[in-house]
Amino acid sequence: MSVILVTGGTGHLGRDIVDRLVKSGRRVRILARSAQSRANVEWATGDLATGAGVADSLRNVHTVINAATFSPIARRGGIRLVDFFSSPAAVDVDGTRRLLALCQEASVAHFVHVSIVGLHDASLPYARVKLAGEQLVRGSTLSWSVIPAMPFYYLLDKLLAGLLRIPVWPVPRTVFNPVDTSDVADYVIRCAFDGEHGDRAEIGGPDELSCVEFARQYLSVRGLRRAVLPIALSDRAARGMGFVVSDGVRGSLCWRDWLRRQYLDHRQAA
Ligand SMILES: NC(=O)c1ccc[n+]([C@@H]2O[C@H](COP(=O)([O-])OP(=O)(O)OC[C@H]3O[C@@H](n4cnc5c(N)ncnc54)[C@H](OP(=O)(O)O)[C@@H]3O)[C@@H](O)[C@H]2O)c1
Repeated sequence: MSVILVTGGTGHLGRDIVDRLVKSGRRVRILARSAQSRANVEWATGDLATGAGVADSLRNVHTVINAATFSPIARRGGIRLVDFFSSPAAVDVDGTRRLLALCQEASVAHFVHVSIVGLHDASLPYARVKLAGEQLVRGSTLSWSVIPAMPFYYLLDKLLAGLLRIPVWPVPRTVFNPVDTSDVADYVIRCAFDGEHGDRAEIGGPDELSCVEFARQYLSVRGLRRAVLPIALSDRAARGMGFVVSDGVRGSLCWRDWLRRQYLDHRQAA
């Protein structure tokens, strides 16, 4: 059976992708900096930033799902001043370039690349890094798919949790539609095996709400009290921060239900 390699298979989206692939009986290999205990997958230890182990990870691989990234904002769950000036490119640009070249040598049949909606208008350095990665994929002679996704709920959750120490939250009125990784994983797998290639439809979540409403639902489900102070952002500034509404495919899990699963269901089960 040919192998599907998932880079970033230990990350939030990657774990959901791997779960689904394993459940459907596919042979899955995860490229990771360190192997973890997990049944029914093969581990290839490697590092996209240095290239170590990447060539070996591609043995007998038919399809690569590239869900690896290095986002300082997602890692720490907060935006710092430095994020407005620079973002490391070793994984998303240099690593993608390296991976594409090795995929060509290994005759990989389909390179599926996960990206972000609205990168052309976005101004944060991480967005520019992701755009450069996308462009490398488009320039490759491999059969490729680029899948733009809206911000994930786990990231919104982390960013809002980071505000808990302040009593008044300044939050943009801007409307957007973040999405859960479970919905994105379903869609990525559909795209990986539907026989089509190229730029794929965007995927976003089912709720088109203002950031203010997302923040209020967060507080309400968690039973917390903070004052939410709506602030106006120009369209340009909003797009620059990635606050857009996606076209194309919609996931089904809404924010309130995701929050309930995250914060209430396990309490009831205990
Ligand atoms: N987060 C969002 O809101 C969002 C929105 C839209 C699209 N996306 C895209 O979706 C994809 C997955 O994002 P995510 O939020 O699920 O990511 P994540 O949870 O931050 O996971 C990142 C993954 O990349 C791996 N990685 C980092 N550096 C590596 C390196 N040097 N070599 C090999 N692997 C490395 C990590 O492995 P370790 O276990 O070794 O750290 C981890 O498995 C990315 O392409 C991202 O740009 C994310």
